[in-house]
Amino acid sequence: MSAQRVVLITGASSGVGQATAQLLSRHGFKVFGTSRHSATAESASAVEMLPLDVRMDDSVRACVEYVLNRGGRLDVLINNAGYELAGALEELSSEEARAQFETNFFGVVRMVDAVLPLMRRQKSGHIVNVSSLSGLSAIPFLGIYSASRFALEGYTEALRHEVKPFNIHASMTEAGFLKTPMMHHRQLGANRIAEYEPWRQRALDAIRANEEKGPGPEVVAETLLEIVSSKHPRLRYLIGGQAKTVTRLRRFLPAGMYEYGVRRTFSI
Ligand SMILES: NC(=O)c1ccc[n+]([C@@H]2O[C@H](COP(=O)([O-])OP(=O)(O)OC[C@H]3O[C@@H](n4cnc5c(N)ncnc54)[C@H](OP(=O)(O)O)[C@@H]3O)[C@@H](O)[C@H]2O)c1
Repeated sequence: MSAQRVVLITGASSGVGQATAQLLSRHGFKVFGTSRHSATAESASAVEMLPLDVRMDDSVRACVEYVLNRGGRLDVLINNAGYELAGALEELSSEEARAQFETNFFGVVRMVDAVLPLMRRQKSGHIVNVSSLSGLSAIPFLGIYSASRFALEGYTEALRHEVKPFNIHASMTEAGFLKTPMMHHRQLGANRIAEYEPWRQRALDAIRANEEKGPGPEVVAETLLEIVSSKHPRLRYLIGGQAKTVTRLRRFLPAGMYEYGVRRTFSI
């Protein structure tokens, strides 16, 4: 086995995961990407695509075992797989909320549980969780999605302390709105309450407009390259002007003024 560093990226069939897989591969990493669907264009490139559904224990176990057998080790896990559930909180069922957490939060928990024994044995490793600005400042009508990202923030912060003695790093990225395929397959809750309609529509239109003018997934890929190349990676990496401005405003503005700004941003 060569000294090539081995990376596993969940959800590498499109958007951030795909851009990151290609970039890291071009920079000499041995990259394994994943998708729930077999045979993607990536299979023909240097990125080896594996089947994975982060909601299923067996699928996670099989994926990590495969990487270990093929790569001999695992240096970096990038937990990127995720989707967005939209709708007023009152409209969303607990099943829909649970399904969102099953992928966006417990999917990460499953992956981390699967790789930590191996990384502890190696006495090295780096886990990077792709969080979001919505994990620091909640987005109306993306409330359950935001909650899944807030959960990921707390989880990653604690994880970082716990695995430090084993020379394992934990980091996360927080990007604002991006222009990726995610905006085209946002899942809307099945139940609609007419009273929310005008606000829901205005908020979703504002979200779409923000995504349309947002940067592409490459900005996150560039930061992920920086993170996995760093000897002393930080916990948090804010990505893009929007994430930096919003976190600064939240810190320095009086709470009421900040909330007013959020409502204006989302036209509600
Ligand atoms: N787009 C944004 O504005 C934005 C901003 C900040 C953070 N993020 C975060 O960035 C990450 C990537 O988002 P993106 O914008 O690149 O979206 P995307 O293009 O829709 O990519 C999502 C990826 O997740 C995979 N995925 C979804 N459910 C999965 C599951 N159950 N098991 C395994 N893989 C699954 C998909 O793969 P398959 O369908 O092929 O399985 C796909 O490759 C997400 O975690 C998102 O929360 C996005």
